[in-house]
Order: sequence, then C-alpha cells, then structure tokens
Amino acid sequence: MAGVEGRVAVVTGSGGGLGRQHALLFAQRGAKVVVNDLGGSRDGTGAGSEMADRVVDEINRGGGDAVANYDNVATPEGGKAIVQSAVEAFGTLDIVVNNAGILRDVTFHKMDDAQWDAVLKVHLYGSYHVTRAAWPLLREKNYGRVVVTTSTSGLYGNFGQSNYGAAKLGVVGMINTLALEGRKYNVHANAVAPIAATRMTEDIMPEEVLATLDPAFVSPLVVHLSSEECSTSGEVVLAGGGNYARVHYMQAKGAAFPGVPSVDDIASTWDQIMDMDGAELGQPLSG
Ligand SMILES: NC(=O)c1ccc[n+]([C@@H]2O[C@H](COP(=O)([O-])OP(=O)(O)OC[C@H]3O[C@@H](n4cnc5c(N)ncnc54)[C@H](O)[C@@H]3O)[C@@H](O)[C@H]2O)c1
Repeated sequence: MAGVEGRVAVVTGSGGGLGRQHALLFAQRGAKVVVNDLGGSRDGTGAGSEMADRVVDEINRGGGDAVANYDNVATPEGGKAIVQSAVEAFGTLDIVVNNAGILRDVTFHKMDDAQWDAVLKVHLYGSYHVTRAAWPLLREKNYGRVVVTTSTSGLYGNFGQSNYGAAKLGVVGMINTLALEGRKYNVHANAVAPIAATRMTEDIMPEEVLATLDPAFVSPLVVHLSSEECSTSGEVVLAGGGNYARVHYMQAKGAAFPGVPSVDDIASTWDQIMDMDGAELGQPLSG
C-alpha cells in the first residue's frame, strides 16, 4: 500500500470546515473514511446527523467509500463507538485524525467551570477518547497514524482563549508521548496547527484575510502525515493559506550551578538563562 490508499481513516468533526476537507481528500486518495460529526453549533450545543450525512453523500457520490458516525468524541463511550464504526464498516482502522472542536471564548477573569470543562472535554478528552479506543488496534496491527489538531492559541496564547489554549497544548503533550510509545509499533503521532476560514474563524478575521485561507490548504498536510511513507512522529506542523512550517520548542544553552543556587544567583544569571543564542531543539529525556 502507498500513501493512504486502502487505509481506513476516522476523521472526527468532519461534517464541515477543515474536517470535511480532510475527509474528502482521504477519500480522493483511496482511503475509506468514517465521517464523524456530532452536528452541533460552534459552541458545541445541539446535535444532528445532517452534517456528517452530507459529507458522506458527497464522498460516495464521487466514487469514494465513507460511512457516517454521529457520536460525541467527548465521552469514552463516544470514542469507542467511533472506532467501532470503522471496524464494523471496513474491518479495521489505520488512521485517526482528531479534528472535532468547539469554542467558548471568554477572558479568564470571567471564565466559569462549565466553559472551561466543555472545551477541555471536546478537544483534549475527545482526542484522548478516540485515540485511546483506537490504540490497541493500531499497536496490534503494527501500523497507525494519529493526527491531533492544535492551534497557535495553545502554542502561543490568544486573548479570551485560556480554555481552548490549554486544551490545544494538551493534545501536543499527548502526541509527544504517543510518538515515543508508538515508535516500535510503527504508530506515528503528530499535530497540525491550522489557520483556515471556517465557521470557527468567520468573525475573528477580516474578509480579505479569510479569502486567502481556504481550509483545503491544510488537508494535504494531514493526509501526508497519515501516509505510509511519512515516518515523522512527535512533530507540530503549522498550515494555513499555502504556508507550511514545523514548530518546535527551542532550549537555550542556559546556566548550570553545581549546587542549589540562591535566588540572587538566579537573578544575576537571568540574562544567560533567557538568552536564545545557540539554542537547540528541545529533546525528550528518553526515547
Ligand atoms: N479554523 C481555524 O483557523 C483553526 C485554527 C486552529 C485550530 N483549529 C481547529 O481545527 C479543528 C476544526 O475546526 P474548524 O475550524 O473546521 O471548525 P468547525 O466548527 O467547522 O469544525 C469543527 C467540527 O467539529 C464538530 N464537533 C464539535 N464537537 C464535537 C463532538 N463533541 N463530537 C464530534 N464532533 C464534534 C462540529 O460539529 C464541527 O463540524 C478544531 O479542532 C479547531 O479547534 C481551527
């Protein structure tokens, strides 16, 4: 097999926006696709089958092979049911693209527990539940590609998005370890940080900028990361409007002390600790 041809892919939240484009491209490249979408609104309220059904129709009418799933990624039962859909329809699962997402934007000062939890549940727990349900299958078959969807809001911060940013950096933490644990089973895990014109961004960027950010630009990256040939793992790649770039933590040369330094020692070497000249890519402790 080459690319993603003949592979079975689950794309969560693929009833619209970026996920729809990913699902269409997977199908175009010969993968069988589970189009999962809860079918709710941008803030995660509501549900329905139309969004997923529409994308499945689009794929199947174009000669592809897709089935719909309407389960909620935010629960363990939902994660299991999504993976089960792939197994029932296509006999196996090779690729998990965690894309489903919602927004509950509010400044931290006004954040309540429900706003915090709802966003963490869909993005972070959602990526966990679906990937956790898929993991034994992938390990057992010695093949798997996992993609999570992060955001510059998590990587760098964004006003009014502390819940979303926490969730989005959480999924990067997850794939950093999945890359280490999956390596010997040929299971790779990476993150994409998209920037695209969807219902999520329609009111936060000017129209002329949105016009340059067709979500279709992001999908070739997602499909490449999901392909047989791609051995990259544990990386974050940004994609938007035709630009693609790796994002990685850099670690400064810093300062070293033979014993526990005093607070004054830290203060007096602060410039050296913070200096990024000669910084190198951050590395895991093991692996
Ligand atoms: N658009 C951007 O610029 C941008 C930037 C950074 C990250 N992202 C991320 O990309 C992903 C896709 O977002 P989008 O911009 O296409 O927005 P979108 O709202 O069009 O897509 C999100 C999809 O997820 C579905 N969904 C929501 N909760 C779900 C749940 N619990 N279970 C199953 N499906 C659920 C929605 O129904 C929707 O179709 C999200 O994870 C988002 O955070 C988008």
